[in-house]
Amino acid sequence: MRRFIVFFNEARSDPFWRDPMKAGRMDIVSNVIIHTFFLSNAMRGNVELHLILNGPRDPPKHIEMISNPQTPFSKKDVAELIRIALWKYEKKKRKVEALPGVFVEKKSFEEIVEEEEGPKYLLDRSGKSIWKVEIEEKPLFILGDHIGLPKDKLRFARKKCDEIVSLGSVTYFTSQCIVILHFLMDNLGKDIEIWERK
Ligand SMILES: C[S@@+](CC[C@H](N)C(=O)[O-])C[C@H]1O[C@@H](n2cnc3c(N)ncnc32)[C@H](O)[C@@H]1O
Repeated sequence: MRRFIVFFNEARSDPFWRDPMKAGRMDIVSNVIIHTFFLSNAMRGNVELHLILNGPRDPPKHIEMISNPQTPFSKKDVAELIRIALWKYEKKKRKVEALPGVFVEKKSFEEIVEEEEGPKYLLDRSGKSIWKVEIEEKPLFILGDHIGLPKDKLRFARKKCDEIVSLGSVTYFTSQCIVILHFLMDNLGKDIEIWERK
């Protein structure tokens, strides 16, 4: 299992929006989802993505996405899938499986980092080169969004992680970091599972 946590500073935590670009850059959330799960004519199995939406109007929201062939993904409208999931939570106001493989609850970044077990790696340019780090089984990678992790979250993650990992001096998009991590693990043959699409 490959696991990722991404903290979104401004992404809307309620379903009352239409334009993803104006919803705290929900388009960036969509990109992260696409690059976490989608391949050319295939989907990745064995992946868990934790999105923390910290924008208005009801933060923090934790959206957990677990590889599931039943998730009604459409590459063209991933933001709408998130909006529907937030809407289902809005109706129940408690943890829900909003769609197959998509769970929504009110939970903070700190709680998720704390709850998840196994090896944890914080992605930060200032860290140790990825080439010198042994990535263990069931890794959990923690990343910021286009703004980066706020200082308090960065401090917290630094304390809780086994290693701070750098992909080099270039600053990549979050989604690009995820692709690079998948690429590295694919080539190491670690936790790889690919579901061909019919
Ligand atoms: C677009 S970057 C954030 C840029 C933001 N202005 C900052 O300085 O933090 C998004 C996230 O990708 C990860 N990231 C980007 N480039 C990286 C690199 N070279 N090494 C490790 N992590 C990186 C970090 O987790 C970062 O928070």
